[in-house]
Amino acid sequence: MIAALFDWIEKRLPMMDAYKKHMSEYPMPKTFNFWYFFGVLAMIVLVNQLVTGIWLTMNYIPSNEEAFASIEYIMRDVEYGWLLRYMHSTGASSFFIVIYLHMFRSLIYGSYKNPREVVWLFGMLIFVVLMAEAFMGYLLPWGQMSYWGAQVIISLFSAIPIIGDDLSLWIRGDYVVSGATLNRFFALHVIALPIVLLLLVVLHILALHEVGSNNPDGIDTKLKKGSLGNNYTAPFKFHDTYTKKYDIIDSVPFHPYGTVKDLIGIAIFLFFFCYVLFFNPEMSGYFLEHSNFEAMNPLKTPEHIAPVWYFTPFYAILRAIPDKLLGVLSMGMSIVALFILPWLDRCSVRSFRYRSKLHLLNIAQFSFSFIALGILGSLPATPTYTLLARIFSLGYFMFFVLLFIYSKNEKTKPLPNRLIFK
Ligand code: HEM
Repeated sequence: MIAALFDWIEKRLPMMDAYKKHMSEYPMPKTFNFWYFFGVLAMIVLVNQLVTGIWLTMNYIPSNEEAFASIEYIMRDVEYGWLLRYMHSTGASSFFIVIYLHMFRSLIYGSYKNPREVVWLFGMLIFVVLMAEAFMGYLLPWGQMSYWGAQVIISLFSAIPIIGDDLSLWIRGDYVVSGATLNRFFALHVIALPIVLLLLVVLHILALHEVGSNNPDGIDTKLKKGSLGNNYTAPFKFHDTYTKKYDIIDSVPFHPYGTVKDLIGIAIFLFFFCYVLFFNPEMSGYFLEHSNFEAMNPLKTPEHIAPVWYFTPFYAILRAIPDKLLGVLSMGMSIVALFILPWLDRCSVRSFRYRSKLHLLNIAQFSFSFIALGILGSLPATPTYTLLARIFSLGYFMFFVLLFIYSKNEKTKPLPNRLIFK
């Protein structure tokens, strides 16, 4: 009877079929390595943020008078409130660590290239929404850095000619950051942006499963149907959607191979996560800034305003340019350049393993510049640091310019036919 009931439901809503197609029988290239942990880790962190966020919302009060005190109440009086809050704040930073590594993987293995451009574009949209989500969440504790950080960032919009002043007024809902700003940021942070984020993640995965996963060698693993002879059958059970279209070699079903592999990644990640959570939740001021433990005071500007670490590379680019409008434009361009990466890179070979030394050097200098900008963005803008920030901003943008130039006629190594275990 139970089987018949499941069959009845399945005919009307093929959930088992979707599960098999997108999870258990999804063909996973068998050489997935360390770098392929971060997609699933991003999902774990997303769920952590949603669940702890819901519980925090039960006790948080988004008002000018009570926001700061309600966070203290959560930390001291709500049962396990401290745990929920630290899980959420550690989760926010973990999200960016995981996402930056996930993006770096795409960069080295050329996962953004044909045919995965849409996967990359959805990823970039996720990244932008995630930054907005984190920025709005940071206002909610209503501490000094929440307040002044928001004041600085929102006032950037006023640099835009003609509409700038009206735009920043519209975002704040007031002439300065106030309770009105807090209310709207709260609404966006707990409802609007999480919905958008979830939708984008679903589209990201659907787009990926349409074309299949890339791999560390960056070669195609699914051949055209019939290309291995008419009698070829895949060595594993894959979903019909895949076997009807392709002769699958070099791939294994996601379950149990991917699930077991990912469980190891999740376990290791949780060790690090719990270490921070239980032993160093402020992460020496990097995950929760010290001045945010002081209630916001519109009459007292903190000596040194710096955004949380995950924004600092972009903040450093902004500060490196003396003109406010040009600074804002450069910061915008640093994100736009990532969006158009699939079209800037004109080389047909995906993975750095088979690309030129120049490409390797370019990725290395880009990563170094990005980290250096991150460090500089958290330091005061002294003349020396500003000079360094200019040099590394140049390094950041030169990555894209150089890539566009050399990738057209790049000298690459011959590609293997089958995936290679390293
Ligand atoms: C909430 C955020 C995100 C989640 C939950 C997520 C999830 C995933 C998952 C589960 C995969 C497949 C497994 C893997 O390759 O690790 C994947 C692949 C991919 N993601 Fe994301 N992702 C997120 C954000 C991003 C961002 C910000 C980018 C880039 C801008 C991105 C670009 C990609 C690309 C290019 C692939 C295909 C990789 C390949 O096949 O080699 N993702 N993502």
